[in-house]
Amino acid sequence: MAPMTRYRNIVILTGAGVSAESGIDTFRSAGGLWEQHRVEDVATPEGFARDPDLVLRFYDMRRVAIQTKVPNAAHEALARLDREWAGRSGGGEVLIVTQNVDDLHERAGALNVLHMHGEHLTVWCTACDARHRWTGPLIERPPCPACAAPSLRPDVVWFGEVPYRMDEITEALARADLFVSIGTSGAVYPAAGFVRLARELGADTLELNLERSQGSAWFDETRLGAASVLVPQWVGEVLGD
Ligand code: OAD
Repeated sequence: MAPMTRYRNIVILTGAGVSAESGIDTFRSAGGLWEQHRVEDVATPEGFARDPDLVLRFYDMRRVAIQTKVPNAAHEALARLDREWAGRSGGGEVLIVTQNVDDLHERAGALNVLHMHGEHLTVWCTACDARHRWTGPLIERPPCPACAAPSLRPDVVWFGEVPYRMDEITEALARADLFVSIGTSGAVYPAAGFVRLARELGADTLELNLERSQGSAWFDETRLGAASVLVPQWVGEVLGD
């Protein structure tokens, strides 16, 4: 790989591992969310149609929980990179594409964050298609602030639904000369395919993860360890500390 300071445009993909040290459960670890709940029940449109109360309660609890968590050193380091990069790279860009539905990147101060799997703190009205910031529960079917229909659902992408803003992500990957994946198991597409696309489009690729992921073989370099340690180290290299 080229020396870190030679890059201009960087795309960073984050997953649940970046928020694990803030106390938010990952999905596929032992005791993770998908061991405690069936994906089909709480993360598919069919599950929602079958038992909306179960699904709304699940997301109401998660929405409350994330508001009690705080960003960790990995979020802080990425926010610093985001803020300082344009000045250091002569106008280059950093884009953080996150699969996470928490707001810890933003609360750490990151500016360029794209939530490809949606967000806990917004809701989507299936009657009028509006989205609203939302911190409270949905279980009582509150009216949509725009159209008053009791049709709000979590603004989270479920299995079988198309992730958000894929065109923007593909364009950013085409401009990127470095793609970095942090804290994701590489189990869920299309995000798991970004590394191959980035390579084909000419970017160097780096993975920072606690353990080898399903996609590790595709990366030029994999560094193993906790995000709160690896990410600040890597950001220090990139910013030439
Ligand atoms: P996973 O739970 O599948 O993977 C989390 C990854 O983070 C694993 O590879 C862990 O080894 C790693 N990890 C755990 N703790 C870490 C730490 N402290 N530092 C660094 N790495 C750590 O979560 P995702 O890959 O994000 O989608 O899952 C992808 C998608 O699957 C989610 O966005 C969600 C889920 O189903 C939807 O709900 C649509």
